[in-house]
Amino acid sequence: MAAPASRASRAKRNQVSLDLVVNRKRRTFSGPPFRRLIDVLREDFGLTGTKEGCGEGECGACTVLVDGEPVNSCLIPVCQVEGQSIRTVESLGRPDALNTLQEKFLHGGGAQCGICTPGMLMTATAWIEGGGSSDPAEIRRVLAGNLCRCTGYQHIVDAVASAVRERRAPGRTKPAARKAAKAAKAAKTTKTTATAARLKKAAAATKRRRA
Ligand code: FES
Ligand code: FES
Repeated sequence: MAAPASRASRAKRNQVSLDLVVNRKRRTFSGPPFRRLIDVLREDFGLTGTKEGCGEGECGACTVLVDGEPVNSCLIPVCQVEGQSIRTVESLGRPDALNTLQEKFLHGGGAQCGICTPGMLMTATAWIEGGGSSDPAEIRRVLAGNLCRCTGYQHIVDAVASAVRERRAPGRTKPAARKAAKAAKAAKTTKTTATAARLKKAAAATKRRRA
């Protein structure tokens, strides 16, 4: 009769290695396949921007995006997101260069204690990037799964609506487009200056020859 498997060998059998894509970077997770996504993000990858509130799928504080859809990372086992694109609040702006939505939250009173804020930002990001409207009733419906005990919600709704309007404002160009336009202008100026210098040099040579 075969000897019962030891605890160590049973634990070893429960380990997996998974390839993940987190904030557009490839990451490898090694450990139990049913470890919660929030724990992998915070403890294994050091992405502590994602917060835990209830731990039961009720408050939305732990919201991250999986293939662009908001999910409660406290309910998802890591094996379920292998190969999918995971985005956390760290994928938005940096502390010294917040994105538009974060700026709106900051300056519009949309964040107070901050526990709900990363989850709110990620749900709102999915809404904005998906072409959502600035209608306050629609925004309230979309954010219904994200609870906030501090702000009374109005400032959050106003911040999201303002970010939507700014994204849609006519004539607004994206940073990359602005950078490209600036580079094109600089190149044109350089080219014009170089042409002028060449013409000036040719004129001086002609003058010398005639002298
Ligand atoms: Fe995940 Fe509350 S911590 S829903
Ligand atoms: Fe405190 Fe929302 S800012 S819970």
